[in-house]
Amino acid sequence: MELDEIDTVGVVGAGTMGNGIAQVAASAGYDVVMRDVEQRFVSAGFDSIDDSLDRLVARDELTRREADSARDRIDGTTDLDDLADCDLVVEAVTEEMGVKQSVFTDLAETCGPETILATNTSTLSITTIASVVDRPERVLGLHFMNPVPVMKGVEVVVGEKTDEKTLALGHAFAEDLGKETWEADDKPGFVVNRILMPWINEGIRAYDEGVAEEADIDRGMTLGTNVPMGPLELADHIGLDVVLDASETLHEELGDRYQPAYLLKRKVAAGDLGKKTGAGFYKYD
Ligand code: 3HC
Repeated sequence: MELDEIDTVGVVGAGTMGNGIAQVAASAGYDVVMRDVEQRFVSAGFDSIDDSLDRLVARDELTRREADSARDRIDGTTDLDDLADCDLVVEAVTEEMGVKQSVFTDLAETCGPETILATNTSTLSITTIASVVDRPERVLGLHFMNPVPVMKGVEVVVGEKTDEKTLALGHAFAEDLGKETWEADDKPGFVVNRILMPWINEGIRAYDEGVAEEADIDRGMTLGTNVPMGPLELADHIGLDVVLDASETLHEELGDRYQPAYLLKRKVAAGDLGKKTGAGFYKYD
């Protein structure tokens, strides 16, 4: 398959990452089918897309007409069979190996043998996800960053059996969405989360151990190292549950230096997951 043969893109999962990926694919001119298990999740995904497109129009990054036509190119569904004609599918469901493998098993049965199957996993093994399908050479990681419409980078992850054509197509597709790519081998956390998660956990531990107040941990890192967000603010932005899931996978695979911070586990247990629940390390309206 070549880039110009990709007309229709499927996205499985209409959550933060899935709806962002659907939006940028539609904005680049692809027809998109966005699927989630319940209509209310699909509707919430469209609400986020509408909000994001409005923000891009307000910033003059898109015209109203471009935003509306991108929106019209996205079909929402709860039926996986509606992805049958997709040329490339990006899976962005919950970070659980069993759930991802079950989605991939269904996709391999539903989609044609040429369809490229990508996963947006943040830390799980591409090779293990690909092991349940009949075409592991056409499986790769396309790891988008949150918020997808704003962040320029996409990490292209190479599974044990991913072939060169699939890899080249992965880069070309992401670039066609206006992104820049880098490549990572299929090792836990790839480049970004392998380095980002311990940074965030160390920020949480520094706060918990009384090194500084929340805001001063974040100010120290933003003013001191020119990153756009400090570790606590970024954890709230990503979602503390997502940070904990990723940290636990890294801990399991790479050992003690990746141990999740105790306070991270306590906040997740309390249901304070960051911006999306209105409270994390900070409070939100
Ligand atoms: N869609 C469209 N526009 C958006 C948007 C979205 N989803 N989110 C933010 N924006 C726009 C805002 O409207 C705003 O526009 P304006 O300047 O015209 O008002 C602009 O982006 C800047 O946003 P804000 O003023 O709200 O705040 P910031 O200036 O702090 O920018 C940010 C927000 C772009 C999120 C910036 O803080 C940032 O880059 N933070 C770091 C994000 C990051 O590191 N993401 C990667 C996380 S790791 C990951 O995703 C991997 C995963 O596996 C865990």
